[in-house]
Amino acid sequence: MRMVDLIEKKRDGFELSKDEIQFLINGFTNGDIPDYQMSAFSMAVFFQGMTKKERVYLTEAMVQSGDQIDLSGIEGIKVDKHSTGGVGDTTTLVLAPLVASVGVPVAKMSGRGLGHTGGTIDKLESIEGFHVEITNDEFTDLVNKNKVAVIGQSGNLTPADKKLYALRDVTATVDSIPLIASSIMSKKIAAGADAIVLDVKTGSGAFMKNLEDAKDLAQTMVDIGNGVGRKTKAIISDMSQPLGFAVGNALEVKEAIDTLKGQGPEDLHELCLTLGSYMVVLAEKAADTNQAREMLEKSIRNGKALETFKIFLAAQGGDASVVDDPAKLPTASYTVEVLAKQSGYVAEIAAEEIGIAAMLLGAGRATKESVIDLAVGVMLHKKVGDYIQPGEALVTIHSNQENVEEVIEKIYATYRLADEKVEKPTLIYTEIQ
Ligand code: URA
Ligand code: CA
Repeated sequence: MRMVDLIEKKRDGFELSKDEIQFLINGFTNGDIPDYQMSAFSMAVFFQGMTKKERVYLTEAMVQSGDQIDLSGIEGIKVDKHSTGGVGDTTTLVLAPLVASVGVPVAKMSGRGLGHTGGTIDKLESIEGFHVEITNDEFTDLVNKNKVAVIGQSGNLTPADKKLYALRDVTATVDSIPLIASSIMSKKIAAGADAIVLDVKTGSGAFMKNLEDAKDLAQTMVDIGNGVGRKTKAIISDMSQPLGFAVGNALEVKEAIDTLKGQGPEDLHELCLTLGSYMVVLAEKAADTNQAREMLEKSIRNGKALETFKIFLAAQGGDASVVDDPAKLPTASYTVEVLAKQSGYVAEIAAEEIGIAAMLLGAGRATKESVIDLAVGVMLHKKVGDYIQPGEALVTIHSNQENVEEVIEKIYATYRLADEKVEKPTLIYTEIQ
């Protein structure tokens, strides 16, 4: 087999076989196929797309390019959740203990990653003593015992994807739905989940800026998941403004605690119940999403969700007393309120810009080596559709540097006010299965 023939075949719109796709992924991973040929191939895929079969083969080949996590020692159906990313998305912190509290095993492998705020692990590390450096055996034991544990990413997971993603990044081939879908799904599948719930974001703060593209990506990922024998469902949710009020690591932990108490922001609460219900159904702990939702609501009401969070934190060395006393979380030295200069309805909050504001304060990582400040971030007080009077706070900035002029300017530029009443945006557009 020759790579040049496979490039030509894809360029001319023909379907590649399983063997051909395996050949090119294996060759690329081990260095036999050079970057320039893989670049040409990616560009051919960008223009010609991939058939359903090709997408499954590509995903499987990438899964097989490295280690696969074996979760078979954990009882029950392991359901993972993936969000395509956004600003201030605190769902994982809420969902892990919430669904675990009704008996769904949550075996979460998580990373630090780059972004506006840290990853799930960074957020959890704002709790004194909490650590994810546990052995695979400890991880398995903890999930069996408490139904939830988080372990740091280890091993050589999907090296083909790492290499291909880096190449796509510099060859203008990231924005290809089959390539994005297989990239995301290969990582989830290699991480060992039996079933997967996807939260595909749409809007200004999301990767997919419009609803049609988001639906297309979601359907592609659902087809891949089901195509490789992992039950997969997706929802499309709004990321035209940040989710919840908190954007920042410790601030989001506090927001997650509030949500587990039933006192969280309405949008975060609703999204967690929707995603959680799917997870419970896929784990076969409820017959349908209505029943699942009732179970989750009850667990929030009777304190079981919160209790599960405490047990989970303590089991991994964390100071669980923060749950009752969130003042023990890292706190910033300065808080500055950004006040509205005029009255009006909030018409738009550019999610991406709020994320950048949090990053300027030090909440996120610009490079892998950056050290993040867990205490800082922004708390929104007004969301799209809310009415505001002059002098009311739009946002509170939590900072460890005294001068936050640049961030204040950014916040003002981020909020657009309108005279006429503005409807709250739809939170969940549709489900895909
Ligand atoms: N996220 C991924 O993991 N892969 C892509 O290709 C795009 C976004
Ligand atoms: Ca949030």
